[in-house]
Amino acid sequence: MSEASSLQWGGRFASAPDAALLAFGSSIEEDLVLAPFDVRCSLAHVTALEGGRIITGETAATLRGALHRVASEIADGSFAVHARATSAEDIHGAIDARVRDHAGEAGARLHAGRSRNDQVATTLALYVRNRAQRAADTAATTAALALAQARVALADGTLLAATTHWQPAQPILLAFWLAAVAESFSRAATRFDRVANDACAASPLGSGACSGSTLPLDRETAARELGFSAPTRNALDAIGTRELALDLVHALARALGAASRASEEIVLWCTPAFGYARLDDAASTGSSLMPQKRNPDPFELVRAHAAAANGALAAALGTTTGIALSYHRDLQETKAIAIRAIERGLGALDAFGSALGYVNYNHDVMTAHAGDGYTVATDIADSLIARGITARRAHELVGVLVTTAERAGRRLEASDLDKLADDANLARPLVAPLDARASVEAKRTIGSTHPHAVARAISELETVLAARERNTTI
Ligand code: ARG
Repeated sequence: MSEASSLQWGGRFASAPDAALLAFGSSIEEDLVLAPFDVRCSLAHVTALEGGRIITGETAATLRGALHRVASEIADGSFAVHARATSAEDIHGAIDARVRDHAGEAGARLHAGRSRNDQVATTLALYVRNRAQRAADTAATTAALALAQARVALADGTLLAATTHWQPAQPILLAFWLAAVAESFSRAATRFDRVANDACAASPLGSGACSGSTLPLDRETAARELGFSAPTRNALDAIGTRELALDLVHALARALGAASRASEEIVLWCTPAFGYARLDDAASTGSSLMPQKRNPDPFELVRAHAAAANGALAAALGTTTGIALSYHRDLQETKAIAIRAIERGLGALDAFGSALGYVNYNHDVMTAHAGDGYTVATDIADSLIARGITARRAHELVGVLVTTAERAGRRLEASDLDKLADDANLARPLVAPLDARASVEAKRTIGSTHPHAVARAISELETVLAARERNTTI
């Protein structure tokens, strides 16, 4: 238990707070991940106080010493135990009390000119910056993994029946599917990078409770110390907004949304009915009752985490809606919801990336089924269109052809093309893809599933990812 009072007010109150309500008002549990960022923020505040000659160099040194001691208590885990035992409302109060434990009289000077309002906003910005950078790296790594798998699948020439509505649609390369996954993760990385950059823009520190301070705080130096470009322009706005945290929760919900969609497909591919893929033992789980089971749990959990992230986003947005400008206690709940969503979301993002590495794609089964369900029908219709037949007529003719073949229980074959040529009154024989490989090789547009187009798309995206890596490691 702290010797210094962990309540940061008292003079005005005649009686102690109701214990249950005090506990209700605490965000310590969620706040614990903020601890190292509050210490950095507090160190910068010492700079601002010293720069404004509000404290002496000697007091500043004592405060820095105490804050470094708190930092090591955070690193060795003892601070969490301590913080939970105090009655502090939040991590900021707990750290402030601990500094007073360590620094006595000097410690009581730390809170000059600052409010938890600017402290929460600044600490949260530092936390969001850190987690957004991590999420960006994870998303980029997952994109690179999907691209590496795509390169292997491209070399193997693995085919896949793309579906719409889960019905066979058109043949594609497995490499094309994997490159599509990579595209969405690359965009996710960009989104996370943007949030991380936004979290470097302006420092709320020195905004005080809501209107700035009469003390000459050196906000510029403090902002630079924390890696921000400048101090914020408007104290009222700076302490009242939670946009950075909301943006990160949003970006996570979006990235997990992409992961959930790929997961859905992989889950189905891993069923014996499909047999398109097999998940390594390392990523599968068994059943406590059914000895034969191999379940692709990580992908199912990722789906659920995506749904939970959507819920958290809605909840966090809800807590910021309709409250007046400035700080209102609702914002403590915004922070708690966002932190939970961010920590859990990051875990799910990591898990998706590692589970994807354990998927073994079954070349033979996928390739063998790529033409099932008349997936070449569109290409045959296209070949009629290329010969001057209208799109509507071509669709009709091929539709009839498919029905006839389906009734006979067979695939489309060369004689069907001859019949089509007759029906359409063509002078020369009709040439069109009749199997899945011919179909992908007949594709001609940029961004198509033609092997050359896929190879080009993979190279381009690799270049994008390499450029991102260079920019973020400078
Ligand atoms: N515990 C609050 C939070 O974490 C900070 C409260 C600060 N301000 C106030 N006026 N009560 O959001």
